[in-house]
Amino acid sequence: MHYILEHLEPRLYKWCQLEYEHISKIVGNEQLIFTNIKSKSQKIKLEKLGKVEKNSVVNLGLETKKICILDPFAPKTLTSEDRKRFDYFIFGGILGDYPMRARTKEELSSKLPGAETRNIGKEQMPTDNAFYVVKEIIEHGKKLEELKFKDSPELEVKEGESIIMPFRYVLVNGKILMSKKLEYLLKTKKGF
Ligand SMILES: C[S@@+](CC[C@H](N)C(=O)[O-])C[C@H]1O[C@@H](n2cnc3c(N)ncnc32)[C@H](O)[C@@H]1O
Repeated sequence: MHYILEHLEPRLYKWCQLEYEHISKIVGNEQLIFTNIKSKSQKIKLEKLGKVEKNSVVNLGLETKKICILDPFAPKTLTSEDRKRFDYFIFGGILGDYPMRARTKEELSSKLPGAETRNIGKEQMPTDNAFYVVKEIIEHGKKLEELKFKDSPELEVKEGESIIMPFRYVLVNGKILMSKKLEYLLKTKKGF
């Protein structure tokens, strides 16, 4: 099983870096490949977290029928049966935007026209949450409807001040899945 993260932001923002670190903890660095990593400094930061590839996943020559692209606009939903069918699960290294601009479709799915796509619900999840959900379905045989979610959670950033995160988060032991480092960044920074 290979989990591929195609980095599609112009820079490796702090938020992306911390999210990618969290993803590496979720799926393990042996199974994780970062593609489309153009700069040497990005490569140095990411090679502790997984394999790093300069080329876009589009140009890696992977067997198209073994590819599953995780895309919120995909017509089909991922099931544990897909484990038998696919070897590569590809995610967009794209920051959440609200409202969604269908960037995964435009910048990834449309560039690999023979590959299958799957959604894990119609709501946009942070990338690390999407990895967690796919791992639960593919490696642990869970059904999407067995997982619990919280939409647009409110996070207290300072006493008396909170922000709404306009995304769907998976609940793990009753709490939204967010790395402590990302939570700290949210509480201490204004922009990313
Ligand atoms: C934060 S999301 C960005 C989605 C982007 N705004 C769009 O409109 O396509 C980052 C990545 O997580 C995965 N993802 C997030 N939510 C998903 C969902 N509901 N279904 C499938 N993939 C999802 C996709 O691979 C997506 O490229």
